[in-house]
Amino acid sequence: MSENIRVLISEEEIEKRILEMAKEISEFYKGEEVHLVSVLKGGVFFTCELAKRLTVPVSIDFMSVSSYGNDTKSSGVVKVIKDLDEAIEGKNVLVVEDIIDSGRTLSYLMGNLKSRKPKSLHLCTLLDKPERRVIDVQVDYTGFAIPDEFVVGYGLDYMQHYRNLPYIGVVELEA
Ligand code: IMP
Ligand code: MG
Repeated sequence: MSENIRVLISEEEIEKRILEMAKEISEFYKGEEVHLVSVLKGGVFFTCELAKRLTVPVSIDFMSVSSYGNDTKSSGVVKVIKDLDEAIEGKNVLVVEDIIDSGRTLSYLMGNLKSRKPKSLHLCTLLDKPERRVIDVQVDYTGFAIPDEFVVGYGLDYMQHYRNLPYIGVVELEA
């Protein structure tokens, strides 16, 4: 079996949209600093592209989370694989994620970060699959709402492959 990747969102479209988002985000944080919390691994590509286009002072930290086994998945419990290096108390935190699917990961993560008393806490995602939502999450900035299809590229993987594609594509399995 092999896979074919169909382009869903081109590199040009993504870059144009990230610039728009960066302008909106820079305007929101005007006169303040923003502390980006990038969600590993998928959020890294988007984080870099967004950070380069922000015009307010930026600092960056990384966090890695993963769902527990299937048994507990419905509870929304996720495991912290790598925590932040620095405290976020008093900071304007903007979580930067690749995609929001069921909302379980982000719902947990936002609650976890909120308990650390940041000055403000917002969420930015490159992609959103609203049809798949199981747990409600407040998303402040969305790049693209996409249909319920499995996508790769721009940080997103299929079994750890394709993260480096400069566009977003849909994985089509070929017999
Ligand atoms: P959630 O907790 O269901 O919202 O899961 C979000 C996580 O699932 C993302 O951070 C991705 O790692 C992964 N994910 C969800 N949909 C896709 C997809 O279409 N392609 C690749 N990874 C995905
Ligand atoms: Mg992710």
